[in-house]
Amino acid sequence: MANTILIGSQWGDEGKGKIIDVITTEHQWVVRYQGGNNAGHTVEIGEERHVLHLLPSGILREGCRCVIGNGVVIDPAALKKEIDEVEARGYGTRDRLFVSDRAHVIMPYHRLIDEYREGAAAAKDKIGTTKRGIGPSYADKAARVGLRMGDMRLADFAERVRQKVEENNVILQALGAPLLSADEVAAEYQALADALIPYIQDTVTLLNEADRRGESILFEGAQGVMLDIDYGTYPYVTSSNATAGGACTGSGIPPHRIERVIGVVKGYTTRVGEGPFPTELHDASGEALRKAGHEFGATTGRPRRCGWFDAVVARYSAMVNGIDFWALTKMDVLDDQPVIKVCVAYEYEGQRYEQVPGAITVLEGCVPVYEELPGWQCTTSTCTCFADLPDQAKAYIARLEELTGVPVGIVSVGPRRDATFVVESVYAPQA
Ligand code: GDP
Ligand code: IMO
Ligand code: MG
Repeated sequence: MANTILIGSQWGDEGKGKIIDVITTEHQWVVRYQGGNNAGHTVEIGEERHVLHLLPSGILREGCRCVIGNGVVIDPAALKKEIDEVEARGYGTRDRLFVSDRAHVIMPYHRLIDEYREGAAAAKDKIGTTKRGIGPSYADKAARVGLRMGDMRLADFAERVRQKVEENNVILQALGAPLLSADEVAAEYQALADALIPYIQDTVTLLNEADRRGESILFEGAQGVMLDIDYGTYPYVTSSNATAGGACTGSGIPPHRIERVIGVVKGYTTRVGEGPFPTELHDASGEALRKAGHEFGATTGRPRRCGWFDAVVARYSAMVNGIDFWALTKMDVLDDQPVIKVCVAYEYEGQRYEQVPGAITVLEGCVPVYEELPGWQCTTSTCTCFADLPDQAKAYIARLEELTGVPVGIVSVGPRRDATFVVESVYAPQA
């Protein structure tokens, strides 16, 4: 069984949680390696619906061991809440959840800085963040002034927290945000430390030892390539590497140990937050996709912006991540469309672009070049294998494969575990 990276190939919310849940049966470990509780990964099992923010989706498979790696930023209160929630639903965490001692801690001032910076920004400069403190926490990591989960074990942890709060109150004051009580935050974080210390480990060694024993690891990407801090639509991005490379730096597993990269891609495109989105639909058809796909943020509840499939983005994702095959999700959402459009390239000032341009000013002006394909106008959610799909859906998939140069190995036609099938010539799961 192969060590596998699974990433989002658009702007997030492609259905990563669902696909992770399905393929976890092939892996002993599931690892989150970047991002934080800005993510919202939905897993539906029968009538139960779970939305995971920090916990790897493998937590819903008994026996699967889960790691929150060094590349993640952790809001300890959010983590504690999520642990309590899954425990209450009958999923044990104590012996199978491991939190990296190197992962950085999100502090209350990070959340306030995130919120007040966004609030103060001019409309065109707003990023539309989740206000979870992600950016400010990664900024402190890069500036080498952050606190790490391992610091929770130190005898003077509360004193360190107190000091950080006092330092950051100066920034909060400048932003017009409420100041924090150093004593209150220190007490709150000490209590959270006491609850979380049993989970904190050297996960770099833990994972490498597991790899050496031949156990297989699934890396659960959060966000998507277009939100990656280097490859996305900067500055309208998140603050980590959501692309495949992030799995190595965010876990400590070396690149040559990765055998497979799966890209999750929706049959159309969505985005939450601000920033360019060439195939966005501002008319009734965008609204129809939002309604059919229930496109509302799993973390913030915001309506997701919707548009046609962008093959330029998918091609770019395939290049940057080295995608071996696609997990194509939400095909059922297109069931009612009489005509389905696919963006095959962009045009900007008379020039054709087959790849995503680096300059945001160019991307903002790009006009999609569309190709139209006939819709199938029948239900796909009851299909249980590739052969069941209507011919137009098969043709749509074939065209996406051609345009991106990557085969489709998994097809998803509904939110539940069982509404998934594989294309065996591309991906043959092992028990
Ligand atoms: P993630 O962040 O990539 O894990 O995706 P989200 O959970 O934020 O959003 C995906 C949404 O689509 C969730 O509500 C899923 O339950 C749902 N979903 C996943 N796959 C499918 C599918 O094939 N069809 C439909 N209709 N819904 C799906
Ligand atoms: P999953 O893992 C979709 C977006 C926010 C905003 C930008 C920066 O569920 O796919 P941040 O709070 O990270 O500083 O916000 O990134 N964003 C997501 N959009 N899915 C996500 O995660 C996201 N995580 C962050 O909306 O535009
Ligand atoms: Mg999501």
